[in-house]
Amino acid sequence: MTGGPIAMGPIASTVGGAVGGILIILIVIIVVIIVFKRRRNDGNPSKTGNIEEQFQASAGFQDTSLEENDYSGNASNLNSERTTPRSTRPKPAVAVKPDVRRTKSLDLDFTDGSPERSSNKPIGTREPIPVAQFPAFVNKNRHTALFSEEFHDLPGPDIYPQTVAREQINFKKNRYKNILPYDSARVKLEVIDDIPHSDYFNASYIPSFDDDKAYIASQGPNKTSMDDFWRMVWQENVTTIAMVTKLQEGDKIKCRQYWPDRKGQSVEFGTIKVELMELEPCTGGVARRMVMRKGEESRRVTQFHFTEWPDKGVPKHTSSLLKFIKEVKADHGQYTHPLIIHCSAGVGRTGVVTSIDSVVAHAKRTRMVDVFNFVTNMRQKRPYMVQTQEQYAFIYGAVLEDLLWRNTLIPVIHFTDHLQDLHTSGDGRGRSKMTKEFQTLKSLCPDPSASQTRSGRTPDNHPKNRYGNNLPLQRNRVILDSPDHDYINASQMKGVHCTFMTTQMPLPATVSDFWSMVLNYKPSTIVMLNDKSQNDKTSHTVTQYQFHGWPKHGSDQQSGARSLIKLIRAVKGVVLGEQVCFALLWSASLR
Ligand SMILES: *[C@@H]1O[C@H](CO)[C@@H](O)[C@H](O)[C@H]1NC(C)=O
Ligand SMILES: *[C@@H]1O[C@H](CO)[C@@H](O)[C@H](O)[C@H]1NC(C)=O
Ligand SMILES: *[C@@H]1O[C@H](CO)[C@@H](O)[C@H](O)[C@H]1NC(C)=O
Ligand SMILES: *[C@@H]1O[C@H](CO)[C@@H](O)[C@H](O)[C@H]1NC(C)=O
Ligand SMILES: *[C@@H]1O[C@H](CO)[C@@H](O)[C@H](O)[C@H]1NC(C)=O
Repeated sequence: MTGGPIAMGPIASTVGGAVGGILIILIVIIVVIIVFKRRRNDGNPSKTGNIEEQFQASAGFQDTSLEENDYSGNASNLNSERTTPRSTRPKPAVAVKPDVRRTKSLDLDFTDGSPERSSNKPIGTREPIPVAQFPAFVNKNRHTALFSEEFHDLPGPDIYPQTVAREQINFKKNRYKNILPYDSARVKLEVIDDIPHSDYFNASYIPSFDDDKAYIASQGPNKTSMDDFWRMVWQENVTTIAMVTKLQEGDKIKCRQYWPDRKGQSVEFGTIKVELMELEPCTGGVARRMVMRKGEESRRVTQFHFTEWPDKGVPKHTSSLLKFIKEVKADHGQYTHPLIIHCSAGVGRTGVVTSIDSVVAHAKRTRMVDVFNFVTNMRQKRPYMVQTQEQYAFIYGAVLEDLLWRNTLIPVIHFTDHLQDLHTSGDGRGRSKMTKEFQTLKSLCPDPSASQTRSGRTPDNHPKNRYGNNLPLQRNRVILDSPDHDYINASQMKGVHCTFMTTQMPLPATVSDFWSMVLNYKPSTIVMLNDKSQNDKTSHTVTQYQFHGWPKHGSDQQSGARSLIKLIRAVKGVVLGEQVCFALLWSASLR
């Protein structure tokens, strides 16, 4: 038998046995960070790839000048109650609830003949928001009903009815030439072989603020419409396609694969032959560089395929979608032919991507942000554009992030200079760039809603929090193993090389939870960042002794006993009883 030696590894840890009153004077944020061993998939190439992508994506947009994105003038207002961000914008002058009236008001709305949104149209509109006030506006309304109200005030799908009766109504109103029936926004294909319906594909031109055919919002083709999809790409001289759905989600087919499988492979779609030339990673998915050939002529087209949109809802973070959009735009360049954006139906996610791109571009030029009127306008071209409230609110968050976005990636050789600059340069009001950057960060990371932190708020769990602020989020909180008792104020954070868990210094009542967490998640290292002296009066050191020599059945009892006696000697002063029997011996020493 292995006369198991006694392993005495002092796991150093200080446990706060603090009493309430003392906690109040602890100003420091007490954090214990638990470092995990590198997980297997942490070493995968996509990680490294991401960093490179980030670098490239950022490097490509360095011209996003500080000047242009400088919100410093109002930075201090971002989280301040004293500002007067408009909590609600002016309501439309006419009640918009009943669809009929909304329709009517829209009719009246456009009598000026302008196909563009016009700032002086009084009904069914909301005022654009000055860029400088936008951060405060968004943060103020993230948890109010405003975005939801706006969403419900958008034109419904029936504003341009299609039944005969309604057509008659429409006919009577035909003098409003600028009210385009949905049909007029559709992309008409050339009729082939005199087949009347061969001109149809379910796609619509969507204007940006200054270009009537900036985008084509399209359905993802199905098996029968793939040839028509490619006819459209050819006919409209499209060079860039943004696809924002997976081919299949759950058990639903969302779109047919309309491109060749492998590099070098060609597939014929009607009269157009498509060859896949290159496959490259892009943010959130893959870019496929293809060549289309028709007769003698050949043209290039690139499809950017974003696959990170979850089955339902919206992406967790705006950043990767924003980067994706930037890459798409960089490829599309100043090209004047439409950018095709499609998902499955070509209205929900497609509407989100189109809105973000267009609203941001407009805001950068005019310093005004106009989500509501843009989406309203889109809905007059294609029904259902932007399908859910959640998607609608997501647009606001994404536009905000894009407007505040700055290239913060610093090449190592410039770091010292950059740091110097952050500390010294001011905004003329005595604030450093560092302060400004931190303010920006705060406005991009707003306080979570109550439902996002609900576990930490239950009456049972409330006492397990050290302070009153910063509850862990549902989506990355650390969940303990026991079902009714799974809460601890701790969060998991993905690092570049490993996963971290951050947690508060345990309270007397949560020490056992802390150790349950350690047992459950098996961290390799515990790093304590608060000074022991800050807790001195009410804390003590815990040493863990692990006994490896417990005799197995039928093996040498005697050397086992000797080892145990050694252990007992080693653990002087610690109450030893039955607990010694357990391989891990911390519970005894915690009181
Ligand atoms: C800051 O916001 C106020 C309104 O809150 C506005 O009048 C002012 O022009 C803004 N300043 C800058 C520099 O944008
Ligand atoms: C493909 O979509 C078109 C409408 O876009 C529809 O008419 C047709 O039935 C669909 N075909 C299949 C095989 O789903
Ligand atoms: C596409 O380009 C061709 C020339 O390459 C041109 O004749 C045609 O009008 C263009 N189509 C559109 C919709 O711009
Ligand atoms: C085109 O697609 C949209 C979005 O799925 C849908 O609402 C509309 O009915 C379709 N139109 C036709 C004619 O199929
Ligand atoms: C939860 O722990 C964090 C440290 O990880 C701490 O900053 C925060 O104040 C704690 N929250 C509460 C409500 O005590």
